[in-house]
Parts: sequence; structure tokens; C-alpha cells
Amino acid sequence: MTDQTASLSAPVATGEAIANTRKVFIKTYGCQMNVYDSTRMGDALSSEGYVTTGTLEEADLVLLNTCHIREKAAEKVYSALGRLREMKKARNAQGQELMIGVAGCVAQAEGEEILRRAPAVDVVIGPQTYHRLPQALRRARAGERVIETEYAVEDKFEHLPPTEKKVIRSRGVTAFLTVQEGCDKFCTFCVVPYTRGSEVSRPLQQIIDEATRLAESGVREVTLLGQNVNAWHGNGPNGESWGLGDLLYRLAEVPGLARLRYTTSHPRDMDDRLIEAHRDLRQLMPYLHLPVQAGSDRILKAMNRRHTADEYIRLIERIRGVRPDIALSGDFIVGFPGETDEDFEATMRLIERVNYAQAFSFKYSVRPGTPGAELGFHVAEEVKAERLERLQALLLKQQHEFAEACVGKTIDILLEKPGRMPGQLIGRSPWLQSVNVDAKSSQIGDIISVRIIGTGPNSLFAEQTGS
Ligand code: SAH
Ligand code: SF4
Ligand code: F3S
Repeated sequence: MTDQTASLSAPVATGEAIANTRKVFIKTYGCQMNVYDSTRMGDALSSEGYVTTGTLEEADLVLLNTCHIREKAAEKVYSALGRLREMKKARNAQGQELMIGVAGCVAQAEGEEILRRAPAVDVVIGPQTYHRLPQALRRARAGERVIETEYAVEDKFEHLPPTEKKVIRSRGVTAFLTVQEGCDKFCTFCVVPYTRGSEVSRPLQQIIDEATRLAESGVREVTLLGQNVNAWHGNGPNGESWGLGDLLYRLAEVPGLARLRYTTSHPRDMDDRLIEAHRDLRQLMPYLHLPVQAGSDRILKAMNRRHTADEYIRLIERIRGVRPDIALSGDFIVGFPGETDEDFEATMRLIERVNYAQAFSFKYSVRPGTPGAELGFHVAEEVKAERLERLQALLLKQQHEFAEACVGKTIDILLEKPGRMPGQLIGRSPWLQSVNVDAKSSQIGDIISVRIIGTGPNSLFAEQTGS
């Protein structure tokens, strides 16, 4: 494709020649949704003649796809921008271009502030407007400092070009697929409803088409994404109301898709149909990331999670009732304003009850603009640190016990990538663990039967028992 505006800032040659050689380096921070978005920004840019590069030094465009969830995440972006400013200066001194874009949740939350604090930035673009990225870059090349953070009226997914099949193949046999964006839950600690906007579900047909295209390009496992993925809702083929459970039943019919996962769910939206899907669908992996954040009802209320600890435990029991081998994962926050020792002990008790296979945990970080920021009784940093240490020790113990309990089991793994040793491949267990195996007669993309023979710090070791 020819870029009409290339000659405006380019030192040499025609627009065509430059368009062919442009390279974009995309740095992704934050959650899986950002990982997915980065690939879609790459798609939008490839239609402008950009290729993605993994080497910062050779990039003509650097895009930071940012996260605003905790203070540290946002600060990382400004320090990266400081370093990029020096790089841009050096480039410009040699008469060469380096464009810098900030996308993602910091872009959405801070907009104008980024242009003020980081003079080297050319484009600030929020998550709902990625289809406008090529146009924004053209405007920037014409000398404008562009901000695109208004929520677009048009659906970005309808305007983003589909990922080329050869690009899908180059990305491997597993893929993310965003089905839902935004959140209406307004947990009092969380910025997501402000950075990603209110809940929007992608229509069924768009999802089926994208999943089919992934499967046709060799993808075996798809993880459906949403900030609150089990709030997905849409219409079935006859106009009937569908939820995430129905969507999973339909996706299980897509030829070639052997494995399905979804993340992240809210306990309030785990409905009966979704639980049935865990009972019925062999494609749906027995793994569920279901954050609870805290185990004290007082704190859950202050967080606006809108369920009690007991309701969460009963929900887990129902899910385990239909799918006993399901592995549970969660997120925890320690030191929410007002959290007492007793509240914290309630969280520890909940963890003991549930027994997690895996979990993420964080110290509460004040986010300006959220209701939590207005609360008094902040917990001292050293108390947060102490609590986090104890909580993580317990979660780590459970994670190791879960891994140890896998030893001796025969399971199916999806081979994803080469291992470190010759002949070794790395696969994924149904419970999302990495599994190292010597599988000389199998290849990436195969699902093979293995017996687990040992555990490492972050992975399992196995021997092949069948193909
Ligand atoms: N939509 C998902 C999670 C989104 S953010 C959900 O509802 O579970 C991922 C995790 O970051 C959250 O589950 C929470 O544990 C953590 N988190 C969010 N805001 C935070 C804050 N202000 N301080 C510390 N951790 C936070
Ligand atoms: Fe944030 Fe709560 Fe929404 Fe999750 S459910 S994204 S924690 S507001
Ligand atoms: Fe971060 Fe935005 Fe994801 S704030 S966690 S990148 S939705």
C-alpha cells in the first residue's frame, strides 16, 4: 500500500519504498486483552505497509500498549517514554524518523497529560479507536500531536482488517480472541470501567468467523477474553438470548478447535448454562480463573463485589460438583482500606477452603478517580507487605501441592513450542501448566498423551505414552 503522506516527513525516496520498509515495535504491558490488542494493532498497521519487529533499535514506530491497573504499571510507561525521548533525539539528529505512540489504558485514562509529560509522544490512542491508528499516524506525520480517546461510535472490530492467515500461523497454535470488552461492575478499587468503558459484547457471527479463521490457520486452542468475559451476551441464530455458556457450546462445533478457555470471570456472572458447559464440553478445559479478591464479607462489601465469601464457596462447590477435576485460579488484593488483621485472616481461611492451583495477588494500590481512593483508614505499606508475603506463601504451597498431585497421572497435552533440549517440546496441560516432554515423532499443534514423571519450579516433566 502506498502512503500518501510519507514524503511529508521522510528524508528520501518515494512513499512506496518507505512504506515497504517501515517497522513497528510494540511493547505490551498489562493483561491478555492488551496482548490481543497489540496483535490487532499490528494487523491495522500491516495494511499501511508496516511489519512488526522484535528489535527496538530498528523500529520507525514504537507503540507502548499500556496498563493503568496499579500505580507502578502506569509509572513504568513514563520511564519508558523518558528513554524513548533520548532515542528519538539521536535519530532526529541523524535526519531519521522515530514516531512514538501510546495506546492502551494509560492512554485512555491520562490522554492530554501524556502529551504534557512526554514531549516526544506523537500519538495517544485509546483501546476503542485502534482501527483509526493508520489515520492517526498520518495526521501525526503531518505535524499534529494526535489524541484519539473519544469512544468511537463505530465498532472497531468491523473496521480492523482480519489477521492474515500466515501471520496467525506465525503466532503459534494457541490464540486469544476478545469477545467482550469493558466492565459495568465498578469494584471500588478498579480503573477498568473508566479505561475500557462500559460492557460491550461482540456479536456471535463476528466471533464465529474469527474463531473459524484461527482454526483454519492451525490454531488448536482459543482463549476467549473479556474484562468480564462471562458477562458476554448476544443473540443466537434464531434471535434468542445467548450467554457465554451458549457461545462455548457453539464454538465447540468449530472444526479443528480442540481446546477452549475463557478469562476473566466474575463470580456474579457464573450462570447455570456456563456451569453445564463445564460438565458437557470436552473441549472446555477444566481450568477456571475466578477472582474473589478477599475473604471478608465486610471488605467484599466495601469493594462492591456484590457477593459474600460464603456465596463464592458455594459457587465453587457447584462447579466442582459437575467437574471435579477443575483447577481454580484467582486474584487477591491485600490491604484494601480498612482491612483489619481479622479481615485478612478471613481471606487466608477462604484460600485454605478453596485450595487454588494458581493465583495472582497484589498490594492494594490507590487509583485516583476510583471510589476506593476516597476511603479513609489506609493500611500501612509494611502491613500490606507482611500480609502479601503470608498470602503468597500459602498460595505457592497450594500451587506446588497441585503440581505434585499431577505426578503419575496420564493426561493430554497440546504441544506448543520447542523446548531447550534437542527433541524436547513444551506442551500445555489441561490445567495450564507447562509440560516438558521428549516427543520425537510428534509436532507442534499435536495433542498427545503423556505421563507426568516430575515437577520443576514452574513446569512439569513428562514422558509420551501415546499420540
Ligand atoms: N476483570 C477482572 C480483573 C481485572 S484487573 C476481574 O474482575 O477479576 C486484574 C486484577 O488486578 C484484579 O482482579 C485485582 O486483583 C487487581 N487489581 C485491580 N485493581 C487493583 C488495585 N487498585 N490495586 C491492587 N490490585 C488491583
Ligand atoms: Fe475491575 Fe471489578 Fe470490573 Fe474486574 S469486575 S474489571 S475488578 S471493576
Ligand atoms: Fe491493565 Fe487495562 Fe488490562 S488497566 S489489566 S491493560 S484492561
